[in-house]
Amino acid sequence: MRINRVEIVTVSASQATVFWRATAPADIAASCSAASGGNPVSVSVSSVNGRHFRAVFSGLESDTAYKFQLSLNGRILHSGEFKTLRPAPGDFVFRFATVNDIHIGEKIYGLIFLPGLNLFPVTPGLKLDIDGEPFWKYTNETAIKELNKLDLDFIIVKGDVVTDHTEENIRTAKEMLGSLKHPYRVLRGNHDRAASPKNDFFLNAFPAATELQSFEHKGRGFILLDDIHPATGNTRFSTRTIELFKKEMERMRDIPVFVFAHNPPLRAFERAPDNRISEFLEIIDSHPSVAGVFCGHTHGNKVAIRKRDGKQTLFVETAAPMDYPGGFNIYDVHTGGYVQTCVRPFCAKSSRWYEKCEKAYYGLAASGLFGDISDRNFVRSVPR
Ligand SMILES: [Fe+2]
Ligand SMILES: [Fe+2]
Repeated sequence: MRINRVEIVTVSASQATVFWRATAPADIAASCSAASGGNPVSVSVSSVNGRHFRAVFSGLESDTAYKFQLSLNGRILHSGEFKTLRPAPGDFVFRFATVNDIHIGEKIYGLIFLPGLNLFPVTPGLKLDIDGEPFWKYTNETAIKELNKLDLDFIIVKGDVVTDHTEENIRTAKEMLGSLKHPYRVLRGNHDRAASPKNDFFLNAFPAATELQSFEHKGRGFILLDDIHPATGNTRFSTRTIELFKKEMERMRDIPVFVFAHNPPLRAFERAPDNRISEFLEIIDSHPSVAGVFCGHTHGNKVAIRKRDGKQTLFVETAAPMDYPGGFNIYDVHTGGYVQTCVRPFCAKSSRWYEKCEKAYYGLAASGLFGDISDRNFVRSVPR
């Protein structure tokens, strides 16, 4: 018996979550300790399917290096280490979450088509029905169950609620999101595009999801943008979106602002003038306190930093619950900044699916989407 794919998914100031799998059913134990001693660490190990494991280490000290071991009957199978996050600046104010790319109704996962060649995908597709349920159903349902256990002020759904924009898929997506017990807001992804404004089932179901949605919550601004080219699905801001965005950012000049959109707007190949990405970035650069720009679309974890005029703005991409590496994100907002942590939904069916679909894109999913610990979990100071 061997273990493999030991992955440290979540690290906060007080907790860490490690996943792994075994080649055969086994009763594997986990232990964890700080190099310098300190508080005793509480460890809870759960397993599903006999061979998919999750260990939660809690009661950790912030900003501290820890070593952990996975062992079977006293034999060490794996040793690893992580460092907890430093404490978030200031006092806790509230907590919200984001989830993206739930892709309701997706039939086959992992297909890539070259532009203009929509007949034959260049990658083999994957699927895994379990007990008659498709992968998008059991993965998202587990994510929603876990989100419902959290104390959240609201949830932001960052687009691609369906794979094919049909009336039935949109209805199913709305039903599923309706099982969230927290208030939620949705923005449009490239897969949520309508063939014509007359048949915009997405907008009919989520009428608030226009070019721009904004609200203030406990002294912070939240702006949700539609950055999708209606014909191509590429990144594009309409003139109206830019106009509204500029106005809202000016109105929220004295408070920190969190910005959300589906497509990550830093991709150089999309920087054609009529996509207005430069105008979007100018507005971002001129605001004194942007907490970050949070996107989906790539289904991977990544943080990029844009440096301008002595300021650094975070551009964050996050994983989806419905494919490897699996995740939704929690934000603890403090008076002086915030913490992002990534949570991988854990259940028997999802674990089997993640194992299968990490092999997507000829194996590139496993290496390209998980990101570093600091892409998934980080602390950020935000000036007020
Ligand atoms: Fe997507
Ligand atoms: Fe997308």
